Amino acid sequence: MIKIICVCGARPNFMKIAPLMRVFHGNNHFETLLVHTGQHYDENMSKLFFDQLGIPKPDINLEVGSASHAVQTAQIMERFEPIVREYQPHYVLVVGDVNSTIACGLVAVKLGVRLIHVEAGLRSYDRTMPEEINRVLTDAISELLFVTEESAVGNLSQEGISADKIHFVGNVMIDTLLANREKACQSQVLSSLKLKPGEYVLVTLHRPSNVDDPRNLTAIIAALAEIQKEMKVVFPIHPRTRKNLKTIGREAEVSGMENLLLREPMGYLEFLCLMSSARVVMTDSGGIQEETTILGVPCMTLRENTERPVTITQGTNRLVHATTEDILDKYRQCRQLQHAEDVRYPKLWDGKAAQRIVRIIDEHFRSSDASQD
Ligand code: UD1
Repeated sequence: MIKIICVCGARPNFMKIAPLMRVFHGNNHFETLLVHTGQHYDENMSKLFFDQLGIPKPDINLEVGSASHAVQTAQIMERFEPIVREYQPHYVLVVGDVNSTIACGLVAVKLGVRLIHVEAGLRSYDRTMPEEINRVLTDAISELLFVTEESAVGNLSQEGISADKIHFVGNVMIDTLLANREKACQSQVLSSLKLKPGEYVLVTLHRPSNVDDPRNLTAIIAALAEIQKEMKVVFPIHPRTRKNLKTIGREAEVSGMENLLLREPMGYLEFLCLMSSARVVMTDSGGIQEETTILGVPCMTLRENTERPVTITQGTNRLVHATTEDILDKYRQCRQLQHAEDVRYPKLWDGKAAQRIVRIIDEHFRSSDASQD
């Protein structure tokens, strides 16, 4: 039996862990322990995703909650270590690039447990992003690195990671999208918000570079104020962003905009439904760049760089400076675009990434010393 601890902690982890848990459970070579670090804890940032995506209830929740980077990372490590000691897994599997990813990865390798990183090798080459640090460090200590796009293979080789550790398997987040697309279409979210397909802009923002910097946040709000004069804007707001709007005293102004629907964070199915029918999506999320590429929906990414270049070269994504002028300029271009009819799926984004990953772990275990014990 291959014993594996699977870790998740923050919202974007949940859609990545969902298909992996399903495949592990369908394979009698594996015994899993699902650990939720509690980095995200609000009902609509966490439990809702478990319910909608059919993820089993975590075996353990570390309940770390929010804190500074150092405190959050340290608390996860402190609470995760005894679990690894007691469970004695053959592998620890982490996904994505959040603080939970690096924290649990470090604990695993220090205890001599092999680390598996799903969504390895993505690089923005911007070390002011906390996620970039998490990505580089997690990859450096992983034994098996599963990558979503070809650029990641090159990034990892440049960092001296040997080719036999790197496996290009596709994208588990897209596994989840493809598995839930039809169900999402049945959501009533459009009618409940009185929206018509193709007649609204969908906005998400949470990156520190945009929402912690009052100048950038103010510039973005000014652009949204203009856009909502001509098209409805739906803005499910991340708790970090809500907190910062309050701090700069602009929350009432944004929630008072006539054509802007400021809402709490939504469930996966409602959000997928909203994305599928949006005229334009405006975001600074990593995953949404990938999801809009598969949906063929024009996506404006409010960032100076992306670690997911395939969404630009093959997808519908474009980068936008966080200035009022550039946002409005790019919005006017995107508004004219039709949804791509012949969506070009990036290589291996076919809904089978989790199956490939589990098969490779199985083979790795069998060909390694660990199978002897
Ligand atoms: C984290 C990840 C980021 C990911 C994002 C998705 C890191 C460094 N960042 O950023 O990569 O894209 O999640 O959402 O791991 N809060 C709540 N309720 C919650 C969770 C958070 O109110 O359930 C609030 C708290 O005020 C907290 C703030 O949001 O201080 C930020 O949460 P945190 O987990 O530190 O980072 P995110 O911005 O969510």
